Amino acid sequence: MPRPQPPSGARVTQAELVVVANRLPVDHVTDGSGEQSWRRSPGGLVTALEPVMRRADGAWVGWPGKPGIQLDPFEFEGTHLVPVTLSAEEIELYYEGMSNDTFWPLYHDVIAEPRYRRVWWDAYVKVNRRFAEAAAEAAAPGATVWVQDYQLQLVPRMLRESRPDLIIGYFHHIPFPAYGLYSQLPWRRQVLEGLLGADVVGFQRVADAGNFARAVRRVLRYPTKASGIAVPHDHGTTRNVLAKAFPISIDASSYVELSQRPEIRARAAQIREELGNPKKILLGVDRLDYTKGIRHRLKAFGELLEDGKISVEDVTLVQVASPSRERVEAYVQLRDEIELRVGRINGDFDTMGHTAIRYLHQAYPREEMVALFLAADVMLVTALRDGMNLVAKEYVATRTDNRGVLLLSEFAGAADELSSAVRINPHDIDGMKEAIMRAIEMPPAEQGRRMRALRRKVIENDVAKWSQSFLAALETTGTANRAIRRNP
Ligand code: G6P
Repeated sequence: MPRPQPPSGARVTQAELVVVANRLPVDHVTDGSGEQSWRRSPGGLVTALEPVMRRADGAWVGWPGKPGIQLDPFEFEGTHLVPVTLSAEEIELYYEGMSNDTFWPLYHDVIAEPRYRRVWWDAYVKVNRRFAEAAAEAAAPGATVWVQDYQLQLVPRMLRESRPDLIIGYFHHIPFPAYGLYSQLPWRRQVLEGLLGADVVGFQRVADAGNFARAVRRVLRYPTKASGIAVPHDHGTTRNVLAKAFPISIDASSYVELSQRPEIRARAAQIREELGNPKKILLGVDRLDYTKGIRHRLKAFGELLEDGKISVEDVTLVQVASPSRERVEAYVQLRDEIELRVGRINGDFDTMGHTAIRYLHQAYPREEMVALFLAADVMLVTALRDGMNLVAKEYVATRTDNRGVLLLSEFAGAADELSSAVRINPHDIDGMKEAIMRAIEMPPAEQGRRMRALRRKVIENDVAKWSQSFLAALETTGTANRAIRRNP
């Protein structure tokens, strides 16, 4: 049963499970008549954690997504939400600066150049402390706290210092880079120590966990064995921190359900029609981010048109590029480059009735995305580096007809599990062109064989399984570490 709203000024306490993430799982919306409300954000993490949060009477600590909003904790669909206020300046320094202009490019193999600014770091420490304090206040004695992602890497240690009674987990949604790159970070020691405040540090890929363990060995000289890291604790004892891969997934069954709705299937047919019924539709769906390899994809597609291998009457590329981090310079530049390239290709190849690329710089609701997946013959995931890439899994989940081809970059985390996709190296433009032609021409029997294998993987390993396996490992490791603390 949903609880009544706490009275104004009340603090939420006593939650057995606290999730701490940069963003709250809700978006602030204003309707036509000016009425303001909250809507659940789309996204797998929110859906995955909802049942767990309900069961545990959980709390979620996060930023409400706009500057300067001061809000008391409130109740939303069975979860206590604890808003953390960030000023406009803190958003600039902690979120746009340190998180998305330093950590994001550094952790994605310096595809864009990371900038190291001491004022950003100072703001990052300060804001991480604010999140840690809010989490400490929301957690019941002995509770479990689960910290999410690179914006909050210092929170595990801060929490352990203020609340040694807690079991603390951290999940890193993005890649963790090789030591040769990580070592650039002026604060490499503090970040590792921050993360090692957790009992379990989860990663997307085995390689990410390996890179992390290597960084810990090199910088802190702590011994590591299999997935365990021995972290010195009081009185000469050590805590065992588990650093391991827990590949995230999607709520597959909800995508299956959506893909079977008649109105969504009708919408998919309508999309094909509106595009002029090309023989093949290629689809890209990404946040407009330089990690996604959108430029490389456009280059390969443009060259195929130029070479006369495909024509705009037969093949259309639909590229959804949803707006993201629009005040960070690298994103502003990327948008200009992409739009220039799209304009050139369309200018060179469009006819009155057909377009080469239908480019959409917009975000769409899930229903429309599923219709697009159903309309697409080939899904292009060409990331230069990506923690997981859930779009690849969403496409596969919706293809209950066992048709369609997934082209998948080996640099996306999803490539570890989705081995039946057509694998590509996005840096190899000729290889990508060949793979696109192979996908366009793939006989239905081979599509079916590959898609069935892909679907099995995604449906068996859904996001509920991900959260269960992380929380089970956290419970075991956290309880063992607690026993060490009690009996040093
Ligand atoms: C990635 C990150 C998330 C982040 C999301 C959207 O998936 O791993 O932590 O929330 O991008 O980015 P934004 O900056 O808009 O939160």
